[in-house]
Amino acid sequence: MKTLAVIGLQFGDEGKGKIVDYIARYFDIVARYQGGANAGHTVKIGDSIYKFHLIPSGILNHKISVLGNGMVIDPLELQDEINMLKGFNPKKYLKISERAHVVMPYHKELDRNIEELKGSEKVGTTGMGIGPAYEDKYARIGIRIIDLLDKDLLKKKIEIALRIRGRYLNSQYDPVKLAEEYHKLGLNFKKNIIDTSDYINRSLKSGKTILFEGAQGTHLDVDFGMYPYVTSSNTSAAGILTGIGTKPCHVRKIIGVMKAYTTRVGEGPFPTELRNDIGNKILTKGNEYGTTTGRPRRVGWLDLVLVKYAIDLSGVSEIAISKIDILSGMDEVKVAHAYKINGKTTKNLPVKIEDLQKAEPVYKTFKGWEYPTNGKKNIPDEMMKYLNFIEKYTETRISIISLGAKREDTVLLKRI
Ligand code: IMO
Ligand code: MG
Repeated sequence: MKTLAVIGLQFGDEGKGKIVDYIARYFDIVARYQGGANAGHTVKIGDSIYKFHLIPSGILNHKISVLGNGMVIDPLELQDEINMLKGFNPKKYLKISERAHVVMPYHKELDRNIEELKGSEKVGTTGMGIGPAYEDKYARIGIRIIDLLDKDLLKKKIEIALRIRGRYLNSQYDPVKLAEEYHKLGLNFKKNIIDTSDYINRSLKSGKTILFEGAQGTHLDVDFGMYPYVTSSNTSAAGILTGIGTKPCHVRKIIGVMKAYTTRVGEGPFPTELRNDIGNKILTKGNEYGTTTGRPRRVGWLDLVLVKYAIDLSGVSEIAISKIDILSGMDEVKVAHAYKINGKTTKNLPVKIEDLQKAEPVYKTFKGWEYPTNGKKNIPDEMMKYLNFIEKYTETRISIISLGAKREDTVLLKRI
């Protein structure tokens, strides 16, 4: 297999980083194609914990790590991550697209100010400036990575952006100082800035293998997610083509990652949300706190209506399930397989937020299980029934399950 893509099937935080960390060993290159430092992957190796926001976690396997043109990159954050990865020689492995957009400090302020203006309608963003950076890209006033290398050009571009965006900003930004600071940051990674699309296409031609690493989840996709409670990029497989710059035929196989239950950070509909003791139990046991913001995640039962939609949208052929161990020790475990909306039962995901908010999940209930049993790490029958139900409903095979936080707790069920 020349390429494989890993995408999220829910609202992000499905455990993509962990799965990528697990399969990266089979690939030469790991490439991210969208999003920015709103993403957060935590990878635990032995007793060490690594928190990633921008750099693909494949770098821990000493793989070439590409930040594609579809990303919005905060150079301050990138510098922090390079520092965190000192032991892994990140400069050797990092390739940054010259076409990727830059998150500037005023994007972060705009992110906060726009949320404030929205009041109770706020999205609950990560505050990392993602929306405003993508807005500037499409408004044709964005700063690209390549611009960081030319101080005068950078200053001119910052001036234009501030002229247009200034009315929504409270702070004063000095284009000269900003250009100096960001030019300096850019020079730090000058050697890593390349035409990543050309690099990837040439690598594929020469027989190298590539893993495309998605950030966020399908239901945060700006086109197919629960708009407006979404992020500002295409998180589904569709984002790979524009975010990497490769041929459609290079995106063949897609693994969808899902948690054994559902979590969501930020606002927006969540039909299976559990605002009770069971939800709190999963929150605590699963340590469901955002990697980027530290916010407690909203927690609920698995929602297969959402998962199936994501699988069909992107053409997912394999599922990886994470955190199934967290559900052990419960009296019962539920899975939503349809919604009741205005008295009608449907398996289709409604497009209107108002309908999603009204949707009552229709559940199938499973008996709880213990794991591990008597210290033995065999999959208990009840857990197997749960997994079988997911496979049958989604018409997609489960090839990886993760039974714990550590690298060695990930199990390959079937050859991918
Ligand atoms: P990973 O890659 C979970 C959510 C935010 C908010 C919405 C928009 O770890 O799966 P943004 O800052 O992107 O404008 O916020 O999207 N969000 C995520 N939720 N995991 C993520 O990334 C997320 N990235 C953004 O909470 O609801
Ligand atoms: Mg995350």
